[in-house]
Amino acid sequence: MKPVSRRQALALGIAGTGAIAVGGGGLLWARSSPFRPATGGRLEEPVILGSRERLLELLLEAAPAQVTVAGREASVAAYNKTLPGPTLRLRPGDRLRIALVNSLDTATNLHVHGLHVSPAGNGDNSFVSVEPGGSFDYEYGLPTNHPSGTFWYHPHHHGNVADQVAAGLYGAIIVDDPEDLPVTQDRVLLVSDISLTGTGALRAPSVAERMMGREGETVLVNGQVAPVLSAAFGDRERWRVINACPARYLRLHLEGGQLQILALDGRRLSAPAQVAEVLLAPGNRADLLVEAVKGTMILRAASYDRGTMSGMMGRGRAEVSGPVTLLSLDTSGVPGGVLPPVPSTGRIRDLRKEPVAAHRRFDFSMGMGPGMGPGGMRFTINDKAFDAGRIDETVSVGSVEEWTLSNGSPMDHPMHLHVWPMQVIQEGGRNLPDPKWQDVVNIPALDEVKVLVSFDDFPGRAVFHCHILDHEDQGMMGVVEAR
Ligand code: C2O
Ligand code: CU
Ligand code: CU
Repeated sequence: MKPVSRRQALALGIAGTGAIAVGGGGLLWARSSPFRPATGGRLEEPVILGSRERLLELLLEAAPAQVTVAGREASVAAYNKTLPGPTLRLRPGDRLRIALVNSLDTATNLHVHGLHVSPAGNGDNSFVSVEPGGSFDYEYGLPTNHPSGTFWYHPHHHGNVADQVAAGLYGAIIVDDPEDLPVTQDRVLLVSDISLTGTGALRAPSVAERMMGREGETVLVNGQVAPVLSAAFGDRERWRVINACPARYLRLHLEGGQLQILALDGRRLSAPAQVAEVLLAPGNRADLLVEAVKGTMILRAASYDRGTMSGMMGRGRAEVSGPVTLLSLDTSGVPGGVLPPVPSTGRIRDLRKEPVAAHRRFDFSMGMGPGMGPGGMRFTINDKAFDAGRIDETVSVGSVEEWTLSNGSPMDHPMHLHVWPMQVIQEGGRNLPDPKWQDVVNIPALDEVKVLVSFDDFPGRAVFHCHILDHEDQGMMGVVEAR
């Protein structure tokens, strides 16, 4: 490209915007051209590290990395120099040992999202801080009755979570089924988003983006844009879709085909359910079954309006997770053999049949307050911003509680509880007929949701928070201690 002269730049109205800068030898593009992803390559999957003899041991280094993102060289942060990081494949009853090494220039730690493991000591402890140059040895023991499904890992150091996840730090965890399911392909589809400059550097979010929850400009599936899969006629694929975006919602539908939900947040439904769409808030996972019986099917996310800060930030703009094409599946060949149906699971636990020991209420709110975050906004649960030294709720190990999650703000907040999954029993004032288990539950703007939680197995301190990671970093998080 021919450099633009200062006069031409002024004529174009870009000189004053910071788009170009004058360097020693003339004009340089400070932010150069926008990032141009390459689209449509063959889907690649992260390397899989599997357990042997009930143990998976690995070193996980969080570090700045030069990797290929969307077919281009980019400078990001990644685990073990790949984006996404390695997929960890486990079985119920396994031990997982991770030596986390921090080669970033900010403090970090590690969270195994959705796993039902101890939050104490060197387990899934979000209060650990691993300083730059430091390391920490985590050890997690999965109970022998641990659910089989899709989970993930990411940093959880309060204040740095959104920046580090947005920079590329995430990976999948699979807990295998006791018996293999009749599927021809089992794929991890880790969806993330990232904002890069034309030279492949990370772009910092604005104050407004931090308030709303940043959405990356480029949406990635396993680090690629709109990759292509191919299948033979009659194949049945299992897609483990993980929403690792810091704030983007994914309202998934399959153009030209049928989606079936096999599992949500790592927990099987009693039988696969055919659905028109599935909404994944940040942190949610869906295991989908797709039958390859048409030429081309396209997995898309439709737009989702997650609310507005109008009246709070003096602007009327709604924050919309925009429509995006995630991938396409090309089917070739002729009808062959027919796969046996996917067996249904046993009965799903329904906590409504168990006595409730306590009722609690959690109000998620955003309010203006002097000297609060960068935008003067307070993000709170029950009027309190996160304090690692405070215990907000004390619960008894083995008891069942009913929690009402209410949202008085004009934006959705996806609520996540570590260690113990939640059974959603009421949404939008309506009681749900069937047990529905999740570890991230969306609370729509100006609405409420009721859940039951059984505090099985593990004493210790854990957190619950909004999984819009900018909100979590700005205080929308609380501490629960099980005794
Ligand atoms: Cu996926 Cu506490 O986070
Ligand atoms: Cu989590
Ligand atoms: Cu939030």
